[in-house]
Amino acid sequence: MGLLGNDCAQCHATAKWTTPEFRHPSPVSQSCAQCHQAPPSHYMMHFKMVSMSVAKMEKAEVSQCFLCHQTTSWNDIKGVGFYKHH
Ligand code: HEC
Ligand code: HEC
Ligand code: HEC
Repeated sequence: MGLLGNDCAQCHATAKWTTPEFRHPSPVSQSCAQCHQAPPSHYMMHFKMVSMSVAKMEKAEVSQCFLCHQTTSWNDIKGVGFYKHH
């Protein structure tokens, strides 16, 4: 989504995408939004009607990913478990 910049070669080589130096920030970090962009649905009614209700969060800004998400998987909702669509 461009959050890390568009000069891919600044961090990536051509052999593989992974970079051995990279350590993902701790799950207790609150700076998720610095690097991650929420899906478009989070900026629509879906956020209030589905996301907030599934996560059982009465008050949350979209930018506060850490309130509902963990680093395991985007569908592993904090305090709820894996969310299954439909
Ligand atoms: C500021 C550094 C930085 C820039 C710039 C950057 N990336 Fe990354 N990218 C990373 C890091 C760190 C990872 C995680 C690597 C790992 O897991 O070992 C990553 C992971 C990836 C992955 C792997 C995803 C996966 O599921 O394994 C892809 C694909 C990728 N980047 C594509 C791009 C593309 C395309 C660009 C340019 C538009 C780009 N990146 C720019 C740092 C960067
Ligand atoms: C310094 C930048 C940075 C921060 C801060 C950060 N992440 Fe990440 N995260 C990454 C990169 C880079 C990847 C690897 C990209 C990829 O594999 O798609 C990643 C991967 C993930 C994945 C795995 C995605 C997948 O589909 O496999 C999840 C989930 C995740 N992060 C959640 C979080 C959460 C929650 C927070 C806050 C607690 C957070 N991240 C903070 C950079 C960051
Ligand atoms: C109020 C809680 C809440 C907040 C805050 C939140 N999310 Fe979510 N998010 C959810 C829930 C619940 C789901 C799964 C159900 C859904 O799609 O609404 C989800 C789904 C996702 C998905 C998966 C979408 C898919 O199609 O599989 C991604 C990626 C994601 N969120 C990223 C983020 C990022 C990045 C942020 C912060 C910038 C964020 N979310 C903030 C609750 C939240």
